[in-house]
Amino acid sequence: MDGLAALKAKYLTAVADAAGEAALEEVRLSALGKKGEISLKMRDLGQMDPSQRQAAGATLNALKDEIDAALRARKAALGDAALNERLRTEWLDVTLPARPRRIGTIHPVSQVMEELTAIFADMGFAVAEGPQVESDWYNFDALNIPPEHPARQEHDTFFLHRDPGDNRPPHVLRTHTSPVQIRAMAAQGAPIRVIAPGRVYRMDMDQTHTPMFHQVEGLAIDRDISMANLKWTLEEFCRAFFEVPSVELRFRASHFPFTEPSAEVDIRCSWEGGQLKIGQGDKWMEILGSGMVHPKVLTAAGVDPAKWQGFAFGMGIDRIAMLKYGIPDLRAFFESDLRWLRHYGFAALDMPDLAGGLSS
Ligand code: PHE
Repeated sequence: MDGLAALKAKYLTAVADAAGEAALEEVRLSALGKKGEISLKMRDLGQMDPSQRQAAGATLNALKDEIDAALRARKAALGDAALNERLRTEWLDVTLPARPRRIGTIHPVSQVMEELTAIFADMGFAVAEGPQVESDWYNFDALNIPPEHPARQEHDTFFLHRDPGDNRPPHVLRTHTSPVQIRAMAAQGAPIRVIAPGRVYRMDMDQTHTPMFHQVEGLAIDRDISMANLKWTLEEFCRAFFEVPSVELRFRASHFPFTEPSAEVDIRCSWEGGQLKIGQGDKWMEILGSGMVHPKVLTAAGVDPAKWQGFAFGMGIDRIAMLKYGIPDLRAFFESDLRWLRHYGFAALDMPDLAGGLSS
């Protein structure tokens, strides 16, 4: 049985060289399969005489067991290697941050409304609201703008249609957020500190005017509120809003029927290479109207002007959004151009707050 040593060497080498489970199975079949070399040798035992058969049988069985063990060991090793390879290539880092999904962006106007709400909330102002379709009493009369007053024409008002003979009081698209002053005071009385952000409408359209735009009204009424409080509040607001150490505001004497005295406020800025910048430069941009609330306005809202006084202001939200974020054309705000919205929009889940940074 000298051939057995060669047979053993041949199959043990073949087992060791088998590169994969399929190759290994072929080795098994050619050695131990039904027609395998070892199996055929086993069959030959039958033709031997009993004394030979005993010795040869034992040797063959040992060889068979040895090859079988080698096959199993190699199979286990190949299985481990395959598993390790899968583990190496199919890993997943569960600590990776999630990829942000495009779920749209926040419009600069919404972002700025959130920002200014956060700033004024910090100064103790609550948010008040009023309807966009407003009676002309709230929009004009209660604000000391009687029917014949020229300010009614200046506002380029949109009037709601009335059929001839329909004598209900006229309604308008509100031309400013000031009617919310009246509604808030009538509902809450004094003292009061509110802002009222929202949409307003005027018949006007050019690079800096759209028929619909946004204002935020501010109102602070108490026993001894003065112009100085107004000035501080606006400067403090602008510093926080524009996220700069200081801003320069210019108060110009002006006239509104609902405030006395009145001031329009400009902010120092520059226009260079189509980019607006605030706090520096030699240009001024008007951002708001303001003043001490007129006694007639307090009276119309049911607040006694002998006991209470305070300031009000109305600021253009779109204007301050353009200034802060360097957006050159107002009309683009309302064109719903996706490329513009992606460029100027804000991440949907970042809520502005004073502690965490307004716009970061
Ligand atoms: N309502 C005025 C406007 O729209 C702004 C304003 C508000 C002025 C409050 C004074 C006080 O132009």
